[in-house]
Amino acid sequence: MTRTITCIDDLQQLARRRVPKLFYDYIDSGSWTESTYRENSGDLARLHFRQRVGCNVENITTSSTVLGTPVSLPLILAPTGLAGMIHPDGEILAARAAAAAGVPYTLSTVSICSIEDVAARLKQPFWFQLYMMKDRTFIADLIARADAAGCSTLVLTLDLPIQGQRHKDIRNGLSVPPTLTLSSMLSMLSHPRWCAAMLKTPRRTFGNIVGYAKGVNDTLGFADWVSRQFDRSFSWQDIDWVRQRWNGKLVIKGVMDSDDARQAFAAGADAIVVSNHGGRQLDGAPSSISVLARIADQVAGRGEIIMDSGIRSGQDMVRALAMGADSLMVGRAFLYGLGALGEEGVTLSLTLLRKELEATMALCGVTRIADLTPDNIVDYPWPL
Ligand code: FNR
Repeated sequence: MTRTITCIDDLQQLARRRVPKLFYDYIDSGSWTESTYRENSGDLARLHFRQRVGCNVENITTSSTVLGTPVSLPLILAPTGLAGMIHPDGEILAARAAAAAGVPYTLSTVSICSIEDVAARLKQPFWFQLYMMKDRTFIADLIARADAAGCSTLVLTLDLPIQGQRHKDIRNGLSVPPTLTLSSMLSMLSHPRWCAAMLKTPRRTFGNIVGYAKGVNDTLGFADWVSRQFDRSFSWQDIDWVRQRWNGKLVIKGVMDSDDARQAFAAGADAIVVSNHGGRQLDGAPSSISVLARIADQVAGRGEIIMDSGIRSGQDMVRALAMGADSLMVGRAFLYGLGALGEEGVTLSLTLLRKELEATMALCGVTRIADLTPDNIVDYPWPL
């Protein structure tokens, strides 16, 4: 099976067949008209490489560092909610595949497996992503739990004061754990392999939140509690509150503007993620790649720049690294692997990305990640 899978698109096709539609659509969708979702990948593809020859590319290395830690690839698995519904115990499996491949894994606030579930099965530091929610006791406790579990890095996502609407999720009646309607039952029962595996795990709801949603104990109540908890009052001053409780590395995610990038570093971030949430939040925002170079230029030297949204290949990785990212996050690229083949699929997605990255570096005449610059790109469709 894995011999016929040669790119992330192949993993996507297999995931589409193997994951019940309501959960597959949750991955493969953007907010409202999905224009930003489409442009993320479309704009990356518009960047053309400068093909170089005669450069002696015998010794290529894709290894690098992220926030001082050595990595085999300048890549981090992005926080993605509900990965444990794409594949049973999905967060544990993805974290293990990432560790084996030598790259960090980020657990989402709204994961199915809890911080403790992942820590028990991983035995090495991972990253934890935090959404600011109104219940500050809950947030302070989550930060303490991430610390106790040995998490090295806190990723604070700021681009979700309110949830972007995804039409497909509404039409599919997405809920966690799934409510049993005729259509959700048909969607799940037509995937007996997924159902059988899901029956073997007790983890089917928000692992970090169970026990906190006071007075709430039914399925719809949980989802409602989560969506009501996103804190619209959060502002830059509140970063101090987080900093007082977290001594590890702090990454601020969802930055698409140079002024915000400056604010993030001034507030004490060690890195920012230039991200539009994979086109799931502000529909109509530009693609991440189109704003990257300007932001990298404006905040050069203040901290690390991670970029995500739209990366589906090693070629895309080279494009973003050349345009100013120090490292990248991928969401769907590993989720397709997870849905298609579980842990083996995440491993395969990372292997494919690494091979493509290495080959593209060779054909651009570059042997080290740090040597990728805008000079490796021949034309920019937008002003720098
Ligand atoms: C996400 N993303 C996300 N981000 C975050 O900070 N917390 C979260 O819980 C989630 N959940 C989530 C679920 C799913 C299914 C997707 C696809 C994405 C956004 C994610 O971290 C990242 O920014 C994007 O996935 C990057 O875009 P690509 O790589 O998917 O194109």
